[in-house]
Amino acid sequence: MQTEISNFNFYNPTEIVFGKNRIPELDRLVPKNKKVLILYGGGSVVRFGTLDKVKEALPNRTIGEFGGIEANPTYETLMKAVELVKAENYEFLLAVGGGSVIDGTKFIAAGAIFDGDPIDIFGAGIGKGLPVTKSLPFGTVLTLPATGSEMNNGAVVTFVEKKAKLSFGSPFSFPKFSILEPELTYTLPTRQLANGVIDSFVHIMEQYLTYPVGGMVQDRFSEGLLQTLIEIGPKVIDEKNHDYNLRANFMWTATNALNRILAPGVPQDWASHSLGHEITALYHIDHARTLAIVLPSLMEIRQHEKREKLIQYAERVWHITDATEDEKIQLAISKTRAFFEQLGAPTHFKEYDLGEEVVEPLVAQLEKHQLTAISERRDQTLEISRRIYLNAL
Ligand code: NZQ
Ligand code: ZN
Repeated sequence: MQTEISNFNFYNPTEIVFGKNRIPELDRLVPKNKKVLILYGGGSVVRFGTLDKVKEALPNRTIGEFGGIEANPTYETLMKAVELVKAENYEFLLAVGGGSVIDGTKFIAAGAIFDGDPIDIFGAGIGKGLPVTKSLPFGTVLTLPATGSEMNNGAVVTFVEKKAKLSFGSPFSFPKFSILEPELTYTLPTRQLANGVIDSFVHIMEQYLTYPVGGMVQDRFSEGLLQTLIEIGPKVIDEKNHDYNLRANFMWTATNALNRILAPGVPQDWASHSLGHEITALYHIDHARTLAIVLPSLMEIRQHEKREKLIQYAERVWHITDATEDEKIQLAISKTRAFFEQLGAPTHFKEYDLGEEVVEPLVAQLEKHQLTAISERRDQTLEISRRIYLNAL
């Protein structure tokens, strides 16, 4: 077990272009001599005029479009884009959308010039898990603050038939730039706004709620971002509240929650995400909402392993000081649960009309995807994961 901050390299080459009316700068950001493919999702960027703005900003270029990337982007759809990129020799990709479009674009950019079958970019029993050693360059215009994908090098892809959600990452998969216009969030419905707050919150927790190693900077950054979300979350989910600074703070928090600035040299626990991805793969619940089910239950089941950090979290994030250590832990967990519920995300399976029948299929999925020794100490066995699912019924 780690007792101090371990050695780290921190590298993040993505240029962030943040604020009002930044889309016109695409002309500067996208290379003028490259053939560009714009990628988007199910149509929100068409309906709300973002796609038109993007195209207007890219005059005198050869541009193509690929729409229809689903929420939880599927390998099947993404491979169609890979074929298109190869057939038409696109040289630069531009993702316009949320995490799904950006993740999909990361895979397409890597898959289009991968030596071999792109399925082998994935491991966990689906492909050979070969490293990505090159990628087409790509940029993003973010429309949904949540995943941090706009400033990280990871992506999650869904395999429909195989009922799997698998991730990959590579040093070549950072966006060249990401345009973050907070006003683009004004068209988001309450459910997606809440999803964004919860996903960001849990990204921070996965890098924070482990055991102390004296990472003061990492801890204080995390605590500051968590407090920001607690403060602004309930206002952010009011879809009619178009307060600029509110949305700007939300967007920048979500990006920092997973651009890896919180993680260098400290232990991390991505167990809530691992357990959550299996829920989406089998029962199609939104990514963030699976985390709202898993995290409070995981905190309860794993409170002994995470005791010191839970007390720190209670004191510094929720300002619970006048209580015993055990009371602090219980209060911190119940406040976290209440926060998710307040944002409209249920924290139990039963609220999705799901019962005990889900537990064994979910555990079997974890086993199939080799998630049998997870968490910061790799001591979360299938039996512990089973207890976490059972405790969330
Ligand atoms: O598809 P369209 O029509 O564009 O509508 C989308 C979609 O239905 C809509 N939307 C996006 N921007 C909008 C908007 N509607 C109105 N106004 C706007 N401005 O929102 C819906 C959800 O979009 P999606 O991109 O799926 O959401 P999100 O950003 O939450 O991404 C979720 C995906 O990211 C993965 C998840 O697993 C999931 O597949 N993640 C990626 C991570 C990463 N790359 O680092 C980390 C995360 O933990 C996560 O796993
Ligand atoms: Zn997430």
